Amino acid sequence: MKIAVFASGNGSNFEAIANQIRAENNEAELVLLFCDRKQAFVIERSRQLGIPSYSFSPADFTSKTEYEEAILALLQENQIELIVLAGYMRLIGTTLLMAYQQKILNIHPALLPDFPGLHGIRDAFEAQVSQTGVTIHLVDDGVDTGPIIAQEAVSLEVGETLESLERKIHQVEHRLYPIVIQQFIEELEMSKN
Ligand code: GAR
Repeated sequence: MKIAVFASGNGSNFEAIANQIRAENNEAELVLLFCDRKQAFVIERSRQLGIPSYSFSPADFTSKTEYEEAILALLQENQIELIVLAGYMRLIGTTLLMAYQQKILNIHPALLPDFPGLHGIRDAFEAQVSQTGVTIHLVDDGVDTGPIIAQEAVSLEVGETLESLERKIHQVEHRLYPIVIQQFIEELEMSKN
């Protein structure tokens, strides 16, 4: 099963996924990274891991459709079957949604449906909730609205800071996402047989 990861920034989840897939040594293959920001640190991580990266931004195209058609061509050339969003800070449009129905996963740093959007950790922290967490879900055309596959809660302790909460959330993400991706791939493979 050939996988592409999409990311926009730091790429710590990308690295966790890449390492786990290598360690498992099974049918899954992380073939490429797609990044919409040419200066993002995730590109450096992909270089260090020896995983090819491709980067273009919507600003290089006249429309979102053209942008996504270019991505789709890249994915098809590489026979990608599953897209894994890992900090890809853009909405997926119709072109990719139609081509990869039920085959785009996303991770969000809050317990959806609470705190969707770009700042899930900060929004939960500022709301002073007693717990927040991590959600992995299938992508649909809404903002963090697709069917939920897995969630794990994270408690806010007395004296919790935004930074300590971010660390806790990322630790959960790095452990949970690779496991859920692996299970999802196994289910996809079984449904083929
Ligand atoms: C992660 O916390 C991920 O859940 C979040 O961006 C971060 C990327 O970190 N995604 C979203 O907020 C999507 N709405 P990383 O670049 O270090 O993997």
